Amino acid sequence: MSDELKRIEKSAGDEIRAAKNLEELEKLRIQFLGRERGALTLILRRISELPLEERAKIGQRANKLRQKIEALLDGRQSALKQAVSESVLRREWLDVTRPGIRPERGHLHPITKVLREIEAIFASMGFVVAEGPEVETEYYNFDALNIPEHHPARDMWDTFWLRQNEIKNQPSSRAQVEGKSKIKKSERLLLRTHTSPVQIRYMEAHNPPIRIISPGRCYRHEATDASHEIQFYQLEGLMVDRDISIANFKSIIQQFFSRLFGEAIEIRLRPSYFPFVEPGFEVDIRRSQKSTFVPSSGRGKIRNQKDEWLEIAGAGMVHPNVFKAVGYNPKQYQGFAFGMGVDRIAMMKYKIPDIRLFHSGDLRFLKQF
Ligand code: DAH
Repeated sequence: MSDELKRIEKSAGDEIRAAKNLEELEKLRIQFLGRERGALTLILRRISELPLEERAKIGQRANKLRQKIEALLDGRQSALKQAVSESVLRREWLDVTRPGIRPERGHLHPITKVLREIEAIFASMGFVVAEGPEVETEYYNFDALNIPEHHPARDMWDTFWLRQNEIKNQPSSRAQVEGKSKIKKSERLLLRTHTSPVQIRYMEAHNPPIRIISPGRCYRHEATDASHEIQFYQLEGLMVDRDISIANFKSIIQQFFSRLFGEAIEIRLRPSYFPFVEPGFEVDIRRSQKSTFVPSSGRGKIRNQKDEWLEIAGAGMVHPNVFKAVGYNPKQYQGFAFGMGVDRIAMMKYKIPDIRLFHSGDLRFLKQF
């Protein structure tokens, strides 16, 4: 038995030192100290077979050996654990001083930016934003605006007409048409060619005094070039009350452009024709002679003659026929209306040479704003 103990001592020492991981070590613990079949356990079980005088000696040695093996196992276990956590540390090492990867951030489209600025300026002058549908009826886009069928003025707007039977199954656009009881004439559908129909819808639903702006998408069936797109943005404005005059319009629009461009702007009104206003005029702007603001035509080259006038909007005093169409008494109320291209204003403000860039989806363009 003494020899057996020696053998166990030797092989336990060798094998425990050589254990490569915690699982191997656990197997060795069972192999030597296991309660059922551990090598040392088996010996202790046989001690009673020994002659009395040897029992105590062998028993003591066996117990010492058990303590030694336990110490070896514990020592090896902590060495292995340490090695594991060191290798984890090596693997999972993190350099907190390394520069991070900046996440891509989106931002507003230049048209949206300009629209928000425009809305803020008008809001400060008491105007509210009113919106209308992009799929319009012939009535709102033309008739109610004093542009009857066969009127030559319809040629001013190249229209996308919609095939009615294609629309029928689309509940939303159908509901827009049927929801309005005031559709008096044609229900033919089209993509609105301007934002002026919102005037009509708003006046049908509200009584004066009125101060609204209506920004939105419009569509025209035309060839595209650097300054024309089939889809573009307009801003319509309408102010109705008693005793409204062109002077009110001129001062509001002059305030507006001066604040939008951050420079004193001069306004010039030239007589013009739009069926829904009388008188009608074109609005020209130029930088005040004292200012350093350089307006651009938006056509690529920046013109900088100080005295150059730029045509920027259409406007006029609301036509009596328009008031009649919405049930207002034209003798009681007056108002002015105006319409301008938002794309064109954004082009001037940011010196963009081609309107087609707005919807090109070209990130090199968009990232500049
Ligand atoms: N709707 C016109 C257009 O698209 C712009 C316009 C001109 C609007 C005169 C107005 C206005 O309200 O009074 O060409």
